[in-house]
Amino acid sequence: MPETPYLVICPEQVRANFRALAGALTAARTQGTRIRYAVKAAPVDAVLTLLDGEGAEFDVASVGEIDQCSRLGIEAGKLCYGNPIKKSAHIAYAHAAGVRRFAFDTEDDLLRIAEHAPGAEVECRFLAAAPESRTPFGTKFGCTPGEAFRLLVRARDLGLTVGGPYFHVGSQQLDPDAWRIGVEQAGELVNALADKGITVGAVNVGGGLPISYAEPAPEPGAIATAIAESATRYLPAATGLIIEPGRALVGNAGTVHAEVVGVRFAPDGRRWVYLDIGRYNGMAETENEYIAYRFVTDRDGDPVAEAVVAGPTCDGDDVLYQRTKVLLPTTLRAGDRVRIPHTGAYTASYSSVSFNGFPPLTVHVSGAERE
Ligand SMILES: Cc1ncc(COP(=O)(O)O)c(C=O)c1O
Repeated sequence: MPETPYLVICPEQVRANFRALAGALTAARTQGTRIRYAVKAAPVDAVLTLLDGEGAEFDVASVGEIDQCSRLGIEAGKLCYGNPIKKSAHIAYAHAAGVRRFAFDTEDDLLRIAEHAPGAEVECRFLAAAPESRTPFGTKFGCTPGEAFRLLVRARDLGLTVGGPYFHVGSQQLDPDAWRIGVEQAGELVNALADKGITVGAVNVGGGLPISYAEPAPEPGAIATAIAESATRYLPAATGLIIEPGRALVGNAGTVHAEVVGVRFAPDGRRWVYLDIGRYNGMAETENEYIAYRFVTDRDGDPVAEAVVAGPTCDGDDVLYQRTKVLLPTTLRAGDRVRIPHTGAYTASYSSVSFNGFPPLTVHVSGAERE
């Protein structure tokens, strides 16, 4: 067995997730929905190749992700450079590599796309009036809907192809109404653009589909239904849909395997359990205790008590949970194995820095890995 910590990803679970989502979407929307996997969630070769075979498109955030897709033989026409923050040189690089779809949210970015990727198809990201998600984007991305209208008209005038409006309701979004709000706003934009003679091919409803961690989440199918219903209500029948999930395709397909490094009682009497995985080598989404992972040990069934859970580095912020109530077996000892289910998304891809000399999280691809 490899030394912990490591992540095991089960590609067949990713396939099942993809098919379930595609099924839920097409059941309610006849012209079909394009599923665009957000590569950043788990940029694992086996996952990308499998999803390519399933007919997915890919949301890429950087030149590095474009290179990874082309190395795997994924057609550039299936990629969308969805990060609104990008250098001109990287737009030109993507265009030279065959990428023809880009997202943007400022006039500056739009002008640079028109210059370095002439004729490309563009999606304008607006800030939907949706409730906050568990790991929110805040106002980092997205213009107002009014500005999106102006910029998409401008895109047409610059010789670009208008893809359509685009919103992302924040990652791990637990409220299906978030998409109803976004789709309604997008519908207003689609109609306003039609009045200008611009036909929108598809509305991009982004990612954000949640999965269950310690806190249960609505099934992706329930979100898909909310999207499809609101699309039927607010969008012209001929307008397609694009959905851009990351977490919902890979989250439940991965399990982190870790080990207890030590257990200590602090002067205030609180029990601290130190794991060999922390904020810097995979558990970045515990920042602000946003995502509450579950812990599975071989001592489950023994009496439990509250514990602070921390990572292995010398850094004071490398604490996973100190406000969230985590109950762990009182018998837990150094050397015990700990499994952390549903860690397929945003774990290995965040652990890219060897902070304190701890190596990035390694990834193994397996047959069956679910807790
Ligand atoms: C542009 C874009 N699309 C899609 C996603 C996927 O989001 P999620 O994993 O919440 O589905 C992200 C996540 O950060 C993103 O930045």
